[in-house]
Amino acid sequence: MNSKKKTVFSGIQPSGVITLGNYLGAIKNWVKMQDDYNCIFFLANMHAITVRQDPKNLEENTLKAYALLLACGINSEKSLFFIQSLAGETHSQLAWILNCYTQFGELSRMTQFKDKSQQHPENINAGLFTYPCLMAADILLYQPDLIPTGKDQKQHVELTRNIAERFNGIYGETFKIPEPFILSEGASIRSLVDPSKKMSKSDKNENACITILDPKDTIIKKFKRAVTDSEAKVYLSDDKPGINNLMTIYSCFTGMGFAQIEKEFSDKGYGAFKLAVGETVADALQPIQDKYHKLLSDETFLKFLYTESSQKAKDISQFTLDEVKRKIGLCM
Ligand code: TRP
Repeated sequence: MNSKKKTVFSGIQPSGVITLGNYLGAIKNWVKMQDDYNCIFFLANMHAITVRQDPKNLEENTLKAYALLLACGINSEKSLFFIQSLAGETHSQLAWILNCYTQFGELSRMTQFKDKSQQHPENINAGLFTYPCLMAADILLYQPDLIPTGKDQKQHVELTRNIAERFNGIYGETFKIPEPFILSEGASIRSLVDPSKKMSKSDKNENACITILDPKDTIIKKFKRAVTDSEAKVYLSDDKPGINNLMTIYSCFTGMGFAQIEKEFSDKGYGAFKLAVGETVADALQPIQDKYHKLLSDETFLKFLYTESSQKAKDISQFTLDEVKRKIGLCM
């Protein structure tokens, strides 16, 4: 790793599907950042168990997500890309320690905790409550400069900074204070059925969401059905949320600006525009899908990659953990 470059650190929870929203909002940006930063990315499978998971699904989804992110362009030679549970010793130890430096009141104010408790009133477990401490541990172990993430995780990164500053205040300089880096471009891809909502894989209407493993004809069909408006003219406007969303998606994949898109479709209707968006997205996803299937067919290679990188992650993080334990007087 190049020590002059800033270090970027981020993770996502592994779930069976990656939506177009996840791809454009997070992953595509991660891929780009690999050229300018030292990048560390990981799959937060320990965070995933704060809601009940089927064991077989969780394991399978984690490995599939690993392959899928590689297929999207996370490059395991340029970046460190690991699985949280394979470096679980350091992550869970620091998480416990940080629990003891985080106030009940602070955790009670986390909006994700409040939302998730409402969604799962039958399982408001302690892990859901202390989730931000594990996240703070993930981050602080690697002394990163920047945390690229969606708006929804900003509060957690801010809490991480507060915990780190508090710890440094008591024990002296220990943790680097990381900056949140809120990804905006494409960060809020909307549902194709109801653009007032975020595109989400848990949407009951399957036409609302494109996943990056959807076959070409499905992608084209979903875009064809996308909700727009009755004006039949392609331009950006506050009262055209459906068209704005399609223009954002088209822009993300073609690199074209909005004015350019308006020009290209100035004399064409919504049918032609939707087809163009569908075909562009499907064609862009095809090579990712091919690479994904190829990676999944070689389990030995995949296992080699994640085992090796997770061991590296463990070694790096052990360094910070040891310093923390020494400072607070935990025998080693
Ligand atoms: N909480 C993040 C999410 O759900 C995932 C995550 C866990 C994370 N630990 C992290 C993101 C550390 C950035 C840094 O999306």
